[in-house]
Amino acid sequence: MSTAQKKALVVGAGQMGSGIAQVLATYGWIVRLVDTEEKQLERGKKRIEESVRKLQEKGSLPDDKAHILSRLSFFSSLDAAFQDDAEMRSVSLVVEAIVEHKEAKRALFSELAARFPAETILASNTSSISITELASDLPHPERVIGMHFMNPVPLMPLVEVIASPLTAEAVVEQVMGMARELRKTPVKVNDFPGFVSNRVLMPMINEAIFAVYEGVASVEAVDQVMTLGMRHPMGPLKLADFIGLDTCLYIMNVLYEGLGDPKYRPCPLLKQYVAAGRLGVKSGRGFYVYDDHAR
Ligand code: CAA
Repeated sequence: MSTAQKKALVVGAGQMGSGIAQVLATYGWIVRLVDTEEKQLERGKKRIEESVRKLQEKGSLPDDKAHILSRLSFFSSLDAAFQDDAEMRSVSLVVEAIVEHKEAKRALFSELAARFPAETILASNTSSISITELASDLPHPERVIGMHFMNPVPLMPLVEVIASPLTAEAVVEQVMGMARELRKTPVKVNDFPGFVSNRVLMPMINEAIFAVYEGVASVEAVDQVMTLGMRHPMGPLKLADFIGLDTCLYIMNVLYEGLGDPKYRPCPLLKQYVAAGRLGVKSGRGFYVYDDHAR
């Protein structure tokens, strides 16, 4: 099959889903992007157009902007996205990028597994939910895999490929190949809480929050130490705002419960900010305050 004929479905048009759809379309895939929230779909579409425009200006696209955008289509339901079974059978990759809630993802995976044939790879962009748990009750769990992109997807070179004990080795190889075709570097990891990315990143962010909570230093000072002293592109507290403090808390709880070690307890300040609706960039305030432009 030539690259131009490859077809993908991305479910969830948020920051991650729209970025994944954009990168797939950039490298020749025909992509359907589905989100049940019309507003989210509209925002995702605008985000893609803006990102592709910027990358074209910088000369970093392998194809013309118009061609890339023409490979994308947007739908508010799976039913609307596919006319018939033949159209569904032509899809070789589904990437799920909906809200980070286990039950929502499990329900979606049951539906996807029932609708798509056994050859269709079902990938989750989850940042922390167990791929084994998503796959275990499904028919053909061997085609379920984690394909964890990093934000902002069009710029970040990593795809963390998460193999559950049920994932077929051939599926792992196929997904690694797909990631390389998207000019990303795939890194294979096994399915344990937080995988590698968030097992290492989130405790650092949580510790930075503890440093503020315990009065070791101000928000700005903690971030400066890490940007100027360790060459991190953003300080951990600014990065937490970009990821979303609710997501950070969710992942800390997955680590805490999944690994059973008190060193993963989420900082009370993180819990308090989330309870107060201070979620970071998306709500306009987290450790920093954001205007509409930054959002
Ligand atoms: N598409 C196209 N262009 C984009 C873009 C996007 N999605 N996002 C940013 N850019 C552009 C900016 O507009 C900017 O363009 P100009 O130079 O024309 O102004 C350019 O990229 C560089 O951006 P910045 O000026 O903000 O500077 P930067 O050098 O800091 O780069 C960054 C931005 C790549 C995001 C960098 O700050 C960075 O690497 N940050 C850390 C990101 C990170 O850690 N991501 C992982 C988060 S964790 C995760 O995703 C997974 C999880 O499970 C939680």
